[in-house]
Amino acid sequence: MGTNISFAIITCSSTRSLAEDTAGAALVERIHAQGWNITSHKVVPDERAAISAAIVAAADAGVAVVLTCGGSGLSLADVTPEATADVCERNVPGIAEAMRAESLKITGRAMLSRAVCMQRGSTLVVNLPGSLKAATECFDAVYEQFEHAVQMTAGAGH
Ligand code: MTE
Repeated sequence: MGTNISFAIITCSSTRSLAEDTAGAALVERIHAQGWNITSHKVVPDERAAISAAIVAAADAGVAVVLTCGGSGLSLADVTPEATADVCERNVPGIAEAMRAESLKITGRAMLSRAVCMQRGSTLVVNLPGSLKAATECFDAVYEQFEHAVQMTAGAGH
């Protein structure tokens, strides 16, 4: 059996309710399909301080992976990457690069993603796009590496 990984899902949207969060719901389904668990799933408005606060709360509660969903495009209301960088110390660029590389095989619009992946302490924060299609495509591009990422963060060698 694989490592149990704890996740928090933070959907960043000023227009979507939790009941309308189909992208978040699809992420929940995928995480459970791996046998991993979700400690919180919430919707926060597209406000930099609110998103940062939600990341801090999840990370400081000890979750291994925070998935943000939405707010990573070019609209001036999109502030999720900035909110992430405000409260994380280390960049993990390969995960965002892999999401964009895989997504570019599907749509050129993937180049419009400003998503970042970073660490706050031992929590990995991954920005996913907000639509159901884009969020699941990006999750599918990278989730197989989460287990090793979490093990390495916990100090395991190869
Ligand atoms: N990635 C995949 N795999 N599929 C997509 O359809 N859409 C892109 C991009 N990444 C897309 C994708 C678009 S149109 C945008 S604007 C950015 O993700 C950011 O999305 P967000 O603003 O919902 O976070």
